[in-house]
Amino acid sequence: ALPHTFNEPVELGIIGGTGLYHLESLTPVARLTISTPWGAPSSAITISKTASGFNVAFLARHGVHHDTLPTEVPAIANIAALKSIGVKAIVAFSAVGSLQQEIKPRDFVLPNQIIDRTKGIRQSTFFERGFVAHAGFGDPFDPKLSKIISEFGHVLEGAEDIKLHSKELDGKDLTVICMEGPAFSTRAESRMYQSFGGSVINMSVLPEAKLAREAEISYQMICMSTDYDAWREDEEPVTVETVVGNLKANSANANRLAVEIIKKLEVAIKSGEVGNDLAGSMKYAVSTSP
Ligand code: ADE
Repeated sequence: ALPHTFNEPVELGIIGGTGLYHLESLTPVARLTISTPWGAPSSAITISKTASGFNVAFLARHGVHHDTLPTEVPAIANIAALKSIGVKAIVAFSAVGSLQQEIKPRDFVLPNQIIDRTKGIRQSTFFERGFVAHAGFGDPFDPKLSKIISEFGHVLEGAEDIKLHSKELDGKDLTVICMEGPAFSTRAESRMYQSFGGSVINMSVLPEAKLAREAEISYQMICMSTDYDAWREDEEPVTVETVVGNLKANSANANRLAVEIIKKLEVAIKSGEVGNDLAGSMKYAVSTSP
């Protein structure tokens, strides 16, 4: 059994979504059951060490047995738990539907924008009960993380030619729509999200990205496309079978990408290039008078 305590800082966090419940390349050195003032996170946090001694935390967003609905994910406890062990940067994986023809199932997408279509029923701020702060969220992801990840599209493998999409690579905004779920969208909704300029759709980027911003943690989501949602005339709307089928292929690519990203981020975080841009930012966001 792995130790339940770990006394070194862990600066990189990886959050796994549907289909990604652990990282194959990493050798765990500890498994932490953390309790936070906001309750328990979705799963125990697994700590691994790279060959050169860099610590990486992994958290399964829906639990390791996938028993937590998107609406029920304790995002606030997840971010608080990662913050409490020293995490400065988070790379979060998520299965998504594609709203654009050129984003094929099994392509990966690094969004740079979000549209919130959740229903306001998820706890989405650390600042409440007499303490008011308004985090800046105009650019919800960390462009430095996105740029680093963008360089590894070539590690994605498959029968078709699988692409990594990002603003750097595609030259346009890539917007993730976050819906409440758990049922998928109607065809009419799917087409409405296209008219909003949506690129992909999931149920998980919020409030996770917002809470990471409030916690001053650099955050980028890696979307793994599993389906064309419901907008295509000639195709059956998305079902769980489609999602799960493509996810098995995606998880091999996610693991391959994670290996490269972790190597690169180890250097970037150790040198201070990544993970410090938001430090102290919330100081200026507080509106409550002292
Ligand atoms: N996750 C994977 N595919 C999805 C879809 N089409 N809509 C919402 N979330 C998803």
